[in-house]
Amino acid sequence: MSLPPGFLDELRNRVSISSVVGRKVTWDMRKSNQAKGDFWAPCPFHQEKSASFHVDDRKGFYYCFGCHAKGDTLKFLCETENMGFMEAVEVMAREAGMTMPARDPRAAEKADRLSELAEVMDGAARFFRAQLNSSAATAAREYLRGRGLDAQTLERFEIGFAPDARHTLWAHLTGAGVSPDKIVEAGLAIAPDDGGKPYDRFRGRIIFPIRDTRGRCIAFGGRAMDPNARAKYLNSPETPLFDKGRSLYNAGPARAATGKDTPLIVAEGYMDVIALVEAGFTAAVAPLGTAITGDQLRMIWRISPEPIIALDGDSAGLRAGYRLMDLALPLLSPEQSLRFCLLPEKMDPDDVLRAGGTGAMRKLVDGALPLVQLLWQRETEAQVFDSPERRAALDNRLRGALDKIADKSLRSHYAEELRRLQFAFFKPKRAKQTPWSPSMRGSGKRFEAPPAHALQATRATLLANGDSADIAERMREEIILAILLTHPALRDMFMTDLERAEMRTTGHETLRQALLALPQKHLSDHALPDTLPEAARLEAERIMELGHVRIAPPVRNHDDDEFARKCLEEEFAKLFSRRGVAVELREATEDMAELADEGLTWRLRQAAESRNRAERSRLSDSADLGEDRAALSGELQRLIESEVWVKRKK
Ligand code: UTP
Ligand code: MN
Repeated sequence: MSLPPGFLDELRNRVSISSVVGRKVTWDMRKSNQAKGDFWAPCPFHQEKSASFHVDDRKGFYYCFGCHAKGDTLKFLCETENMGFMEAVEVMAREAGMTMPARDPRAAEKADRLSELAEVMDGAARFFRAQLNSSAATAAREYLRGRGLDAQTLERFEIGFAPDARHTLWAHLTGAGVSPDKIVEAGLAIAPDDGGKPYDRFRGRIIFPIRDTRGRCIAFGGRAMDPNARAKYLNSPETPLFDKGRSLYNAGPARAATGKDTPLIVAEGYMDVIALVEAGFTAAVAPLGTAITGDQLRMIWRISPEPIIALDGDSAGLRAGYRLMDLALPLLSPEQSLRFCLLPEKMDPDDVLRAGGTGAMRKLVDGALPLVQLLWQRETEAQVFDSPERRAALDNRLRGALDKIADKSLRSHYAEELRRLQFAFFKPKRAKQTPWSPSMRGSGKRFEAPPAHALQATRATLLANGDSADIAERMREEIILAILLTHPALRDMFMTDLERAEMRTTGHETLRQALLALPQKHLSDHALPDTLPEAARLEAERIMELGHVRIAPPVRNHDDDEFARKCLEEEFAKLFSRRGVAVELREATEDMAELADEGLTWRLRQAAESRNRAERSRLSDSADLGEDRAALSGELQRLIESEVWVKRKK
């Protein structure tokens, strides 16, 4: 309804803002100056003891110096009484003794036509509902029972049945005096182009009535029972009542049910909503066979500030999630965001509930990801960041996403969180314990442990390309495993190292895992434990046959545990050191491309030092495998000496 010009001004003139606000607050009379229409009170919008809430009758405005709430009388009514704008106008008009203007005749006519259509729809809903109990609906009842819907659920969702004939609904409605064009306009019958007799749209289908938030029946969804049907679901067409992109299934009940312990869940289909509601997730809605639109998103946010989007666990589901995320980014604010709940592959909420019950769904809902996580996932998944260019490209994409967020404060928090994620992603984790060579232990000097593991992606590219360094590393892994196989008693002492030492080949890794899992009682004897699982045992046998293993002194001297212990310590140290240097080198090179700083210098020095420590050790006669460490060290040294970063800065 539109108001005549000047109506609102007149309204504001007649009702002083202090008289409206005065019902909600206690004025601080010492601070206020009544004569000037200048009032102060503790703010009704936030907790406080002092009076920072200011009302100015002459301007007709309120403003809080504490929480910055501000507005006029109508805004105040809307906020404090939970009224819609027009409602507030009506209340104020009554108070001011002003009559509300008559409704715009065209709008009134339209409203009348809509309510007539809604009545027709209601008649159809009752008809479909009754048909479900008819003898023609035996298969339909069977189908519904098979899907686990009991009588109560059918009642709650008013589920019905459209008989498989061309004119049953038509005959019923016209017989009740509904005009044929209304039936067609409501989308219940299809009028052939050739002017022939209209026929029922829904035939031989289970019927789900769709109501708007006010409870009016605005559309139907019809599900075929035959798996070979041309369309699994057939929905009402767009009508004056039904705007698909602005409607949500179950919106009214969901709005009533949403609360602190009842999050709003957005699923994909009717059956998901029904299953969710039946399982106790009473606030559930679904769009109607389309991707969620901006209008639907706003509707959803009017129901709940942080709805949970349940995505089907396949790539299509994830794509839908990403699309929705892009739609949401510009609209995000501290008060409205999304969470995403990722369902298992090929499952919708209905499937999850059937397979795992409420508990399974609850877990998924509780583990829903904040939007920022999904954003991060999209920008990084299945990608390798092994070059400065790729990392810069990631920066650009993240910045692009950030730029879409209109809310300034939120944007800065997103930026912060993304920086944190990036940091955690690219910085290698520091090992908690520092396994180090004997010369370092007890020297009283404390060293920083080298970075433990390279990232999966880096490992795939930088370290596992089958170059000579890689071969050397593989041989070192074999020596480590062989020493442990010939001296099982050492396993416990090296548990931490062994846990850290993820191996490059599947065989090595299988054996490592088996050694880790070996019960302690098998560790006392020196024989190769035949309790290893088959795959691990085969790998152990293969390794023990290798030339470089057979000649290795700690393997040959299997009676000398002390010597073996020293060798093992040495080998682990070299392994970690080499991996650490590789990671540092990669990082250093990447950082060069950006702007290097003191942190880089420090890290390079650390890397060089850790390398030197391993090399300084004297125990290397037995198993120095001639790895390609010189090249690595040389490169690092060159970077340090040439002070690449200093030149870059200029
Ligand atoms: P789904 O194919 O995921 O179906 O479509 P569903 O909800 O799991 O239904 P059941 O469990 O097989 O009965 C999701 C939604 O997409 C719309 C419907 O709104 C459906 O609920 N849809 C699907 C259509 O509009 N037409 C179709 O042919 C299929
Ligand atoms: Mn389903």
